[in-house]
Amino acid sequence: MLAGKHILLIIGGGIAAFKSLDLIRRLRERGAEVTPVLTRAGTEFVTPLSVSALAGKKVFRDLFDLGDEAEMGHIQLSRVADLVVVAPATADLMAKMAQGHADDLASTLLLATDTPVMIAPAMNVRMWDHAATQRNLAVLRGDGISVVGPNEGDMACGEFGPGRMAEPLEIVVAVETRLADGPLKGKRILVTSGPTHEPIDPVRYIANRSSGAQGAAIGQALAALGAEVIFVTGPADVPPPAGVQVVRVQTADDMLRAVQDALPVDAGVFAAAVADWRVEGASAEKLKKSKDGLPTLRFAENPDILKTVSQMSEGRPGLVVGFAAETQDVLAHAAAKRTRKGCDWILANDVSPETGIMGGSENAVTLITADGPEDWPRMGKQAVADKLAARIAAALE
Ligand code: CTP
Repeated sequence: MLAGKHILLIIGGGIAAFKSLDLIRRLRERGAEVTPVLTRAGTEFVTPLSVSALAGKKVFRDLFDLGDEAEMGHIQLSRVADLVVVAPATADLMAKMAQGHADDLASTLLLATDTPVMIAPAMNVRMWDHAATQRNLAVLRGDGISVVGPNEGDMACGEFGPGRMAEPLEIVVAVETRLADGPLKGKRILVTSGPTHEPIDPVRYIANRSSGAQGAAIGQALAALGAEVIFVTGPADVPPPAGVQVVRVQTADDMLRAVQDALPVDAGVFAAAVADWRVEGASAEKLKKSKDGLPTLRFAENPDILKTVSQMSEGRPGLVVGFAAETQDVLAHAAAKRTRKGCDWILANDVSPETGIMGGSENAVTLITADGPEDWPRMGKQAVADKLAARIAAALE
C-alpha cells in the first residue's frame, strides 16, 4: 500500500504517456497522492485536463509560471515527494538527466530534487539500443536512479524489441518496493541469476540447466525487505521478480560488465550458473555441414565474476555471497571454493540429477561462513531465499 506517500509523476512525450493515465489511477487506488508534471512534448500525447482530472489536482507544466512560483517554487515541488517517477522516460529526458540539463520544468525538478528517482523508459528499440542511450542509462544507474522496464514486445512504431514502457501495475510494484520499509531499506544489493549462453555461431549456443528460480527468489526476498536490488540475469526460464532493476545479459563477459557497472553495492549475491568456458572465435556465420568432417570447437576460459568481485582491492561490496553447485564431496569442494574465490559466504548445494534441485522448486543448502558450515533443511527455493535475505539483513545492520 502507498497510503500517505506522495509521488511526483513526470510524464514525458512518448506514445506510452497514455499508460501514465492508468498509472495515476493505480497509484491513487493504493492511497498515494500524485502530483503530475507534464512536459511540453507530453502534452502532444495526453491532455493536461485528463492528467489533472485523474490526479485530482493541478498539473504543473511551466518553469516560469509565476503563479506556481508564488504557490510552490520548483525546488520545493521537487522535494515534497517521497519518490519522483518519470514515466514515460524518453531517450531525450534520460539524456537531459544524465547531463544535468535544467531547461524546462521537468529537467529542473530532476536536477533540484533530493528525493529518490525512478524512471520507466519508453522508446523505439533502436533508440534504446543506441550506445548513447545505454551510456546515459549507466550514468543514471550510477547516480542511484532506479529503472523499471522497458519490456520487450511489439511497439507502436511497428518494430519489435525492448523499448515498451513497463505496465502501470509493474511500475506500481516497483514504487511500492522502493518505498517499502524494511531492514534493508537504503541498501543496494546486486544479484546475478540464471544461466549464460555462450554462442557457437549466430544460431547455436552452449547453455546449462539453470532455470534462474533460486536467483529470482533471492531478488524478490531482498526487495521485500526494502533493498534496492540490481538483478543481472542471463536468459532464464522464470521471469525476473517485480520491483527490482533488471539487467539482461547473454554471456559471461556481458554479465561481468553489467556487474561492474552496477557497483558500488552493499552486498552481492552471485546465484548465476555462469558458463566456465566460451567458444573461442565463435563464428559470425552459421556453421555448415561439410564433407571435410566435423567442426572442432576450441574453448577459452570465461572470467570468474564472483572471484573478480571478491578480490577487488577497492570498492569491494561489504558482503559477497557465492553458490557452489557440486555433485560430489559437496562440503569439501564448497569450503575450498569459498577460500579460493575469496567470498564471505558460500551456499553449497548438491546438484546431482537425483536431487532434482537444478531446475526444480526445492533446494537443500549448507551455508558456509568464516564460522563454519550450517546445514539448512531441504525447503522451497523461496524459503531458502527468505532465510538468506534475513541473514544478509542481519549482517548489514
Ligand atoms: N561464478 C562466477 N563466474 C564464473 C563461474 C562461477 O561468478 N565464471 C560464481 C557462481 O555464480 C557461483 C560460484 O561462482 O556463485 C561457484 O560456481 P560453480 O559453478 O559452483 O563453480 P565454478 O567456479 O564454476 O567451479 P567448478 O566448475 O570447478 O566447480
